[in-house]
Amino acid sequence: FFLSYAGSDEFLQCLSQTIPNELVYQQSSSSFVSVLQSSVQNPKYATNTTVRPLCIVTASGVPHVQAAVRCGRAHGVRLRVRSGGHDYEGLSYRSVRPEAFAVLDLSRLRAVDVRPAEAAAWVDAGATLGELYYAVGAADRRLAFPGGACPTVGVSGFLSGGGIGLMMRKYGIGADSVVDARVVNADGDLIASVASADQELLWAIRGGGGESFGVVVAWRLRLSRVEDTVTVVNLQRTLDEGAAALVAKWETLILQPYLPDLTIRVVVQDRHAFFQTLFLGRCSRLLRAMGAFFPELGMAPADCREMTWLRAMAFITLGAADAPAEGLLNRTNNLGTFVKNKSDYVRRAIGLAGWEGIFQQHLSQYGAGLMILEPHGGAVSAGVPDFATPYPHRQGVLYNVQYVVFWSGEANGTVAAAATGWLGGLYGHMEQFVTSNPREAYANYRDLEIGENAVGGDGVTTYESGRVWGEKYFMGNFRRLAAVKGRVDPGDYFRNEQSIPPLLQGF
Ligand code: FDA
Repeated sequence: FFLSYAGSDEFLQCLSQTIPNELVYQQSSSSFVSVLQSSVQNPKYATNTTVRPLCIVTASGVPHVQAAVRCGRAHGVRLRVRSGGHDYEGLSYRSVRPEAFAVLDLSRLRAVDVRPAEAAAWVDAGATLGELYYAVGAADRRLAFPGGACPTVGVSGFLSGGGIGLMMRKYGIGADSVVDARVVNADGDLIASVASADQELLWAIRGGGGESFGVVVAWRLRLSRVEDTVTVVNLQRTLDEGAAALVAKWETLILQPYLPDLTIRVVVQDRHAFFQTLFLGRCSRLLRAMGAFFPELGMAPADCREMTWLRAMAFITLGAADAPAEGLLNRTNNLGTFVKNKSDYVRRAIGLAGWEGIFQQHLSQYGAGLMILEPHGGAVSAGVPDFATPYPHRQGVLYNVQYVVFWSGEANGTVAAAATGWLGGLYGHMEQFVTSNPREAYANYRDLEIGENAVGGDGVTTYESGRVWGEKYFMGNFRRLAAVKGRVDPGDYFRNEQSIPPLLQGF
């Protein structure tokens, strides 16, 4: 579904003054569809009815990013900025509404400059988490970065929404490790050090959602120090083996005792629970901790796999213990099954009866999806107030829940309706167990069902429409984000269906 636009010729002409033609893919180009779909994750947004861009600008340098912003402003064409392309609602490369826009794809901008002596790195915006892990681990086996569990996720989307993963209990969420950034603002100017130029903008981009505040072209990260050897353990337990009771016990361990070296992420699906453990130390110490706190899981020496942090990341993200670290560099996209995700936060343990009900009434159904439980606590909340970054799900949060349902066949239709119907049923059932007023949600698990922006008569996103979804993602931090937006992009140039609206008066 293409939209022609009166100013599009002038826009393209303007781009051609700075950006070589071979970096701009117009709709008429034979490569347009393959470039557009190169990082699309969900085939739901690769159909004939998807609203597609006028063109794709594959910037290979910061001046190209600046030119795209300036030409877009001058000729009334908005940009959708894309780094890893993993947005759950596809907002980095499609528009829900019919409007003229261009995709600014940053995947060519992906150098990672690791400075081991400073335990720091500059990473270009278009790098993936896998590329970051590889560069860090290859530079020094005792350096690491607390990222997520999928290697092809872009660092920019990940950091822009907070960034949760298996090391956050020790080192905080991904955004907690951002110390500076380079940003192209709504005038097309480069801010070479946001930390020096605008602390409030730095606060906003460390978790306040992508797209809204400008184009991040590079991030400066603090790296974490890890031991030479870490331990990975994967254990699956069925309902008959006590899966529900084990999940109920696991919930009680997150905040007490304080064990930040240990993270157990749980995937519940069908009639089993899968306990994925990363321990930032050796097996012997892990087994002592498990014997003291969680003997019911029955972890044994033979379950442990000891390896470097880099190999552990390859194992966890690629799914095989012998996966070579180079596998982290693979960006190949595989348009798999259709998928819909939602999220919640749990602050009060659900308990055994609750988990038995979830398994029996929902997860064991034919065609059911799964739930991923990511424990918080540790460095996510210890001494870190909810306003330290825009990510507000810290004090008192036990864990994040991600609901995932897959289907194949058609994007819409009876199979899709059954899958999303199942998801709706489980989400409704969970209401009794999760946060309320607001029902918290994770910005990086974008979900347009919780609200969508409306644009007012002045052509600017209304604050009230943004509050509906924005307070679920950002709670008390939403207003402050809107105030930053009102200062750095009052005309609302950088926007999508869930971008931060500009708050123009008073804060
Ligand atoms: P994408 O390029 O689609 O961008 C996402 C948003 O950020 C868009 O609005 C985009 O416009 C904006 N944006 C992108 N680059 C920008 C830039 N340089 N400047 C400004 N705005 C920019 N999350 C998590 O916390 N932990 C996890 O373990 C996982 N695991 C995971 C697995 C899989 C398979 C998927 C599909 C997703 C996840 N996620 C996740 C969620 C992920 O963090 C989220 O979808 C990110 O936004 C993806 O970032 P990308 O750069 O890939 O997305």
